[in-house]
Amino acid sequence: MANHKLWGGRFEGSLEAWVEEFGASIGFDYRLAPYDLQGSLAHVQMLGETGVIAPEEAKAIQKGLEELLADYEAGLIEFDVTNEDIHMNMEALLTEKIGPVAGKLHTARSRNDQVATDMHLYLKDQLQQIGDKLLHLRQVILDLAEEQVETVMPGYTHLQHAQPISFAHHLLAYYQMFSRDSERFTFNLKHADLSPLGAAALAGTTFPIDRERTAELMGFADIYHNSLDAVSDRDFILEFLANSSILIMHLSRLCEELINWCSYEYGFVSLSDTFSTGSSIMPQKKNPDMAELIRGKSGRVYGHLISILTVMKSLPLAYNKDLQEDKEGMFDTVDTIQKSLDIMAGMLSSMTVNKERMLASTQQDFSNATELADYLAKKGLPFREAHEIVGKLVLECSKAGYYLQDIPLERYQQVSPLIEQDIYQTLQSQTAVQRRNSLGGTGFVQIRQELARAKNELKS
Ligand code: ARG
Repeated sequence: MANHKLWGGRFEGSLEAWVEEFGASIGFDYRLAPYDLQGSLAHVQMLGETGVIAPEEAKAIQKGLEELLADYEAGLIEFDVTNEDIHMNMEALLTEKIGPVAGKLHTARSRNDQVATDMHLYLKDQLQQIGDKLLHLRQVILDLAEEQVETVMPGYTHLQHAQPISFAHHLLAYYQMFSRDSERFTFNLKHADLSPLGAAALAGTTFPIDRERTAELMGFADIYHNSLDAVSDRDFILEFLANSSILIMHLSRLCEELINWCSYEYGFVSLSDTFSTGSSIMPQKKNPDMAELIRGKSGRVYGHLISILTVMKSLPLAYNKDLQEDKEGMFDTVDTIQKSLDIMAGMLSSMTVNKERMLASTQQDFSNATELADYLAKKGLPFREAHEIVGKLVLECSKAGYYLQDIPLERYQQVSPLIEQDIYQTLQSQTAVQRRNSLGGTGFVQIRQELARAKNELKS
């Protein structure tokens, strides 16, 4: 029987090729191949152990599956769109290898629990890899921060110079964000670590299967305790997409800053040639394309989250074919996140920091205005009054074209006799940073403590 479907029994007519293509998922779910084989190997072992099929049948199937795995790893497998998806492709290939006994593999199983199992195995694997890459990125940030503790740069609010800070402090802010991202993925792993296998189509099975055994064989921590839930929900994927959206938002913000910092106006850093590109017309150009691309790719990751949320939102229990739409967004997000993490780590570890330029841009501005106000407040003036006095001085300087540190002492003392010679030391940006020693602040002592804490955290 040419092109007989594995589900073909109750059909008289057949699908036209273009309709069949519309329904097929093999074009993308081929990526589940090794996980599908892993799940089948566990299933068949359990079927043999529980006596659902004869031991020699289980052995024959097992041998066939192992050969398929070897073929897959050697790149020898060709998939066929007329077999719709990865599950039916694998069964067809197994049948070619070992004959009709292959048909016993699908006893007490449905593609519904099979596909859910494959995706859990796949995502578990990817979450571990993403966890490793995040860890590496955090390490890169710590290494860089360690070199930049005493590098003084402008801290911004509203993208206006606000107060001077340490560059390490700025970097460590991202370290914290990526640490929380790591935690989110670790939590996500808990929900990917459940076995749906044995839920069958939706209601469980009449065969005496052992779900805990297959879960153990596949390395899952637990099973889904409700068969409908096991085949219906994709919240472990949605959680992954939500976590990925937050992560790529963090990456995108950092990229935006790198793009600013390597512009002519800032000149704070320069990205290495490995992560920059040129222009086909302007010979002088060195563009931060990779940073821009990560920033741009945040769009597709958010899109996949919204897309799969929308696919899921009105689905009645249990399986519906709509759920086949859960895959491409997940695969694309995995690829995007993994590559973006690698690129970010590479860009940060290879960039050059222009410490002088950073410092200089805190010396021709009013980012020391708070220092003067705090100075007066510490001498007993109510902070509001101090604020007003300094505001007036800033206005006076702006009109005259100089800065607070350029005001002569006589003028200061006209404004307030509380101001003495030591004001010039106070107004220096290094002093300002060094003195901000409140817990979690930018003071050098705080940063060194924070670096030590973070390093310990990464070790454990
Ligand atoms: N390719 C399908 C999917 O990805 C596998 C499950 C098919 N199940 C079914 N009852 N048609 O969702």
